[in-house]
Order: sequence, then C-alpha cells, then structure tokens
Amino acid sequence: MKDLISILDVSVPDLERLMADAARLKAERAEGCCHPLLVGRSLAMIFEKPSTRTRVSFEVGMYELGGHALHLNQEDMQLRRGEAVSDTARVLSRYVSAVMIRANRHETIEEFAAHATVPVINGLSDREHPCQLLADIFTIRERFGRTDGLVAAWVGDGNNVCNSLILAAGLTGMEVRVAAPAPYAPDPAVVARGRAEGGRIISASTPEQAVAGADVIFTDTWVSMGAEVEEAARRQAFAGYRVDDRLVGLAADGAVVLHCLPAHRGDEITDDILDGPRSAVWDEAENRLHVQKAVLASLLSPFDERSFQQMLLG
Ligand code: CP
Ligand code: NVA
Repeated sequence: MKDLISILDVSVPDLERLMADAARLKAERAEGCCHPLLVGRSLAMIFEKPSTRTRVSFEVGMYELGGHALHLNQEDMQLRRGEAVSDTARVLSRYVSAVMIRANRHETIEEFAAHATVPVINGLSDREHPCQLLADIFTIRERFGRTDGLVAAWVGDGNNVCNSLILAAGLTGMEVRVAAPAPYAPDPAVVARGRAEGGRIISASTPEQAVAGADVIFTDTWVSMGAEVEEAARRQAFAGYRVDDRLVGLAADGAVVLHCLPAHRGDEITDDILDGPRSAVWDEAENRLHVQKAVLASLLSPFDERSFQQMLLG
C-alpha cells in the first residue's frame, strides 16, 4: 500500500496488520507507552472543507508518533491562486513524508498522488472516506470480534462514507444492505465494483427492511458538505430515514449503531440512540486516532534502528 485513496487500496493482509497495529497502539497508549516511530517525519494536511475529527486525530497522531503535522487550509495556499495540483504535489514531496488531503473532488486526490513521490491519504472526498471506514471496521471488531458474516445496514444518503462501506464489503465479509431514497441511492458503478470485489450488497426498499436483524446500523448526515443547496429537497426525501428507537428495535439483539459524525441530532439520528446503549459512536470517533496512527506508521516507513539510535544519542 503506497497510498490510501480508496478503501480498495487495502488488501486483506494490509487490513489484518493495520487492525493488529491499531489495537496494540491503543492498548499501550492506555498504559502510558510512547511510540516514537516517526521522529523527524512530517505530514502535510490540506483541507478544502472543514474538519474536526480528521484534523485533530491526524495532528495528534503524528505528534504521538514523534512526528509533526502541518494544517494547510487550501484557501491560504497558492492553490487558491491557480498553482497546479501537480506542481504542489511535486514541491510538497520535497518537504514532507506524506500528505493527507480532504478534497471536494476525488480526482484532485488522484491527481495529487499521481505527481507526489510520498504517500497520499484521502481524508474524505466526494466519493470516499477510507480512514473512516478503517476506524469503523476496527470498532465493529472491538464489539463483535469479527466483521465476517455480520449484517450491516446503511440508512440514509448513499454518500462518500456509504461508498466506502460498499467497496469494503468484500474485504470485511459483511452483508451490506442500503436503504436510501431513490435520488440519493449509491452510484450503481460503486455497487457494481463492490460486487466485483466479492461483496454482498443489497438494495433495500425501506429502512425497516435494511435494519431487520442487522448487527450494525450505519447512518450519516442527510446533507453532506457541498450539498447544502439541496437541503430542502433532501429533508423531504429523507423523512422516514431517521435512526430512532423504533427502527433500532428491529435490529438483532446486541446490534450497534455507528455514525461518522458530525451528527445532526433529531434529523438522521435521535438523541436517545446517539447517547444510548446501542451507540458505538464515541468509540468510533476515538478509534480514528488509533487506526490512523497505524496507517501512518505503515505508510511512512520508520527510521531504521541505527539512525533511530543515533538520533537518541544526539
Ligand atoms: N468523521 C469525520 O471525518 O469528521 P470530521 O469532518 O470532523 O473530520
Ligand atoms: N458525508 C459527510 C461526512 C462528514 C465526515 C460529508 O461528506 O459531509
């Protein structure tokens, strides 16, 4: 794995290693252990859209690994004045060890990666959110000990996070049922790709059908960043797609609810569910940190032992 642009970049062995590394980083951090694996390394983080979790978890993650993260608002860069993405990629590759990008267009990240000589990580695009999916898989494994054979129900917009869940269906072995109003159903090409990767993906007619007997219920905002002009139409279309007590009551015993956050309380999810016993949302948010640290350690090969010793000795 050179880049993490799509969840499809993650193979089964990659996933197993990332999950094991993240579990170890999480457990040892709780015991007060430090992991200075990336001393002297820097991560540039370019944001074309707002972020709370992605920004903070990557920045803190780099710090905890002994490295440094630079928050670059696209508005403050020469990109805003027309500098080419390809030129920016070439130059940043001379300074930093990896680049994380949150972009309006997925193609921007692909173009950046095509010209970068360092790893590029997708911190969310209009098409995918692979870092989120890795944290979600980790959270499900914490709760169930596995993903294989579970049923995941997506209720709501067939958006970037939903796409990554669909594309990961083969990787996780989860049956993915999607309930979305017709105009907001996932891109058929994404569903076809998910199936080609061995995923079992079912288009459910109603939220109730998707959730019946499910082990994991996913939802997300009805209005993703960039879709604000459609807000009124979306609110109408998504009435009936709220994850509430009644809907969750149809799921399997022991089912958990995930939401990548930010949540719009009272819209796609009720307070009772978000704050209730079925919610794994706060662990899910925390796990962004541990899993991304594993991703960073894997993509930015740490210094070899000799240079590390030299550094410690000054
Ligand atoms: N889930 C997620 O990516 O959150 P932010 O938009 O706050 O980064
Ligand atoms: N689907 C949401 C996810 C935010 C983390 C969006 O794109 O705005």
